[in-house]
Amino acid sequence: MEPPKLLIHGVTKIYRDGRQTLDTLASIDLTVNAGEFVTVIGPSGCGKSTLFNIVAGVDQPTGGTVAIDGDAQGARVGKAGYMPQQPLLLPWRTVAENVMLGLDVRRMPRKKAEVQAHELLKRFGLADFTHHYPATLSGGMRQRVALLRTVLFNSSFLLLDEPFGALDALTRLSLQMWLLDLWQTFHSSVLFITHDVREAILLSDRIYVLSSRPAKVVRIAEVELPRPRSPQQLALTQAVQLEQELTTLLMKEQQL
Ligand SMILES: Nc1ncnc2c1ncn2[C@@H]1O[C@H](COP(=O)(O)OP(=O)(O)OP(=O)(O)O)[C@@H](O)[C@H]1O
Ligand SMILES: [Mg+2]
Repeated sequence: MEPPKLLIHGVTKIYRDGRQTLDTLASIDLTVNAGEFVTVIGPSGCGKSTLFNIVAGVDQPTGGTVAIDGDAQGARVGKAGYMPQQPLLLPWRTVAENVMLGLDVRRMPRKKAEVQAHELLKRFGLADFTHHYPATLSGGMRQRVALLRTVLFNSSFLLLDEPFGALDALTRLSLQMWLLDLWQTFHSSVLFITHDVREAILLSDRIYVLSSRPAKVVRIAEVELPRPRSPQQLALTQAVQLEQELTTLLMKEQQL
């Protein structure tokens, strides 16, 4: 049987700074099976980005194990396409050049990288902006460019840290549907962070709710809505009930 894309077991994180310690993650267990869309929600500052940094291999856990494709020993850097909470587009590079950044890291020949980048930009609606610079794009377009760069680097496993956090509701909705299209096209496994319960329900197969810091998993909710998803499904009784339940849980955690 295929191992899970990601298996997090008993992961803890304590930051130390001189004599100060900050207990951030208190034993996290989480699984993303191949092709699943899994979301983490939790109060601000509880340790979500910390968890992503650990999975991406840019930080190490204090305890516990992280296995990608069944491998808990090897280096994790490069095994996921990671879009951090504040993705950086290089202002002096065009859209196409920004999207190709990850391929530079992988030392792919320039011509091949260009072909792949252009195909992706065309397929996902950015063909007209290929030669634009980031400063001339809207916020929603910038997030799409950063997302396509992440996908081009590694489409099999994506770590997306609040990619739509700063967008207005309508742009956000269209990007959510756009992301689902991308996820289905590439059969990606996705681990996603959001503060938005409705976004989590619309996108996910499963939602992990974290407590306030030090974070532990307080609820795992399977989202049983059929796919392909549409925003109208959020009005279904089961979606409304789940939204209310998760919102209540989050509000309780946020107050602590
Ligand atoms: N490199 C670091 N060194 C020390 N403390 C850190 C470091 N990175 C994060 N922290 C602390 O760890 C805690 C969790 O931070 P983290 O960024 O993981 O939270 P978050 O859940 O992603 O929050 P938000 O929802 O606001 O993005 C915070 O108290 C933060 O100050
Ligand atoms: Mg964060």
